[in-house]
Amino acid sequence: MTVSHDKEKRHDHDIEAVAPAADQDTLLEVSGIEVVYGGAILAVADVSLTIGNGEIVALLGANGAGKSTVLKAISGLASADRAKVRRGHIRLDGEDILGLAANRLATRGIVHVMEGRHVFSHLTVEENLLTGAFLHRPSRKELQRQLDDVYGWFPRLRDKRRTHAGLASGGEQQMLAIGRALLTQPRLVLLDEPSMGLAPRIVQEIFAIIARLNREKGTAFLLAEQNAALSLAYAQRGYVLDTGRVALEGPAADLAARDDLHRIYLGDAP
Ligand SMILES: Nc1ncnc2c1ncn2[C@@H]1O[C@H](COP(=O)(O)OP(=O)(O)OP(=O)(O)O)[C@@H](O)[C@H]1O
Ligand SMILES: [Mg+2]
Repeated sequence: MTVSHDKEKRHDHDIEAVAPAADQDTLLEVSGIEVVYGGAILAVADVSLTIGNGEIVALLGANGAGKSTVLKAISGLASADRAKVRRGHIRLDGEDILGLAANRLATRGIVHVMEGRHVFSHLTVEENLLTGAFLHRPSRKELQRQLDDVYGWFPRLRDKRRTHAGLASGGEQQMLAIGRALLTQPRLVLLDEPSMGLAPRIVQEIFAIIARLNREKGTAFLLAEQNAALSLAYAQRGYVLDTGRVALEGPAADLAARDDLHRIYLGDAP
């Protein structure tokens, strides 16, 4: 990285500040977090961001920028990777949630769909969905209603409900991972690289469902994606991470219009 790029970045950050959402509209607030793996590897140096109620926010950045680590810090899954948030705050509805276990956070409405479509491959599609449902201990009737709701969003999952998840296609597994997360009745879904390794047509299908979920259920999403054009097309606002820091932030349309986004921050061809 050249010195001139560093200067350009600092300058950009100054002028790109965006007004935070009004307090009652702020669902999640991350302020100044530092995250370290194994007591030694600094993965996130200083990240602040907000997510409004019912908002889609894109979290962009090149490989290793810290996107997944920020998601893990929010969802409480960081500790499973021996990562610790050493500085900063994370607040949900203004209340400190840093240090709460992932299952407690899930009952509060935060769910994390991890990178790489983690499904239980020897369970059927429906059995996988049920693992998400038990959090709120629904009655049998309510459970069926919730399953039908998810099948309504993802008709492909209904068709495959008795198939072992390991035999479902990559796109279906991604839908399954999202569908299972929906069964926890989330207010905020942390979605890590939903497009990874999938054909463009399937990616469009998944993002269209995300947009509908957001519109019709008011579910908020934090989308960690390397595919900037795609996630900025669906997000209202975005943040660009560079080696563990927020390098740029602003309305999605403004970020998408920048011709230096790819060259400087995402480390790929425009
Ligand atoms: N389990 C881990 N143990 C140690 N270091 C890790 C671990 N996971 C990530 N890191 C390091 O933390 C930094 C941030 O990684 P992270 O996975 O958050 O980036 P990312 O933006 O999600 O990248 P990608 O686009 O490749 O998914 C990297 O330097 C990475 O090597
Ligand atoms: Mg990642």
